[in-house]
Amino acid sequence: MNSLMAAIVFSSLISLSSSYARINTCRSYCGNITVDYPFSLRNGCGHPGFRDLLYCINDVLMFHIISGSYRVLEIDYAFQALTLHDPHISTCDSIVLGGRGNGFMVDPWRAPYLNPVADNVFLLIGCSAQSPLYQGFPSRHLPCRNVSGMGCEQYYRCPAWGFIGPEYVGSVYGSGPMECCSVSFEAIKAINLTRLDCQGYSSAYTVAPLRMDGARDWSYGIRVKYSLQGNEAFCKACEATGGTCGFGGDGDVELCLCGSWNSTTTCDSVESSSTIPTWSFMEILAGKFISFCKH
Ligand SMILES: *[C@@H]1O[C@H](CO)[C@@H](O)[C@H](O)[C@H]1NC(C)=O
Ligand SMILES: *[C@@H]1O[C@H](CO)[C@@H](O)[C@H](O)[C@H]1NC(C)=O
Ligand SMILES: *[C@@H]1O[C@H](CO)[C@@H](O)[C@H](O)[C@H]1NC(C)=O
Ligand SMILES: *[C@@H]1O[C@H](CO)[C@@H](O)[C@H](O)[C@H]1NC(C)=O
Repeated sequence: MNSLMAAIVFSSLISLSSSYARINTCRSYCGNITVDYPFSLRNGCGHPGFRDLLYCINDVLMFHIISGSYRVLEIDYAFQALTLHDPHISTCDSIVLGGRGNGFMVDPWRAPYLNPVADNVFLLIGCSAQSPLYQGFPSRHLPCRNVSGMGCEQYYRCPAWGFIGPEYVGSVYGSGPMECCSVSFEAIKAINLTRLDCQGYSSAYTVAPLRMDGARDWSYGIRVKYSLQGNEAFCKACEATGGTCGFGGDGDVELCLCGSWNSTTTCDSVESSSTIPTWSFMEILAGKFISFCKH
């Protein structure tokens, strides 16, 4: 047998053995949503920046941060974004007052990993004149601005305002500067209705750069961008060797889960492992085949 033949047979045996190893023990499903890296529903799986974040309750995927719990409507892995729903969010059809909405605020350690997208607008409703939103601004209208063409002027045309009326919300706070104030997350960093002294809020985003007629066509929900902080190489290298990305300890060390052992680099490395690798049947076979060819 010539060496070229041996090389071909050997490489096909290797790819066979790595396809055996490529069993992703971390990927899971909740309802019709796939939960995959950097997210996970299992401790020790995924990226540590997203640990203790998602929970699957009766086939409903929930997202939990300090401001509250949200239903996950979608995880867009290609655009690295999540779409969240808060049951107390105001929409074009209904306005929810009473400060019951979650708003949006992430735990400080998680802030680098999760941020509402730049073209997500937060519409704060019925904020008091004393709201920190208006403090420090010579003109009280200053912090409020349109975000990606979305703002209060269009929102006021929603049927929901027909039932309540901007005048009504305004009359609750007779001295209130505005009934609605639209802001980007970037402008205020935390949507805490209690702290901002607002009655309610809405949140909308546009996924496609379509020319929309008005607030009727907006998508209501919170669109959140997730980021691995430039740390994607670890997982790519791990997966390339048939591993699954996870972490150990309190999330202080990223691990490549290689089936029967864990590596701090990839499943090809031996020296960094905490446990001795157990060779798969195919790898042993490939090894024997190679030594047979040498003779
Ligand atoms: C998931 O199911 C819901 C209904 O339960 C549906 O509205 C949604 O479009 C589905 N999402 C996907 C990605 O199939
Ligand atoms: C590998 O790491 C995962 C995640 O931390 C852990 O659940 C598993 O027990 C570890 N396996 C070994 C063999 O150490
Ligand atoms: C927002 O856009 C509307 C037009 O859609 C405009 O009339 C309004 O003045 C803008 N508001 C702010 C605060 O820029
Ligand atoms: C929101 O603000 C209130 C009042 O300042 C504060 O008590 C509460 O802890 C804040 N919520 C979060 C999630 O930080």
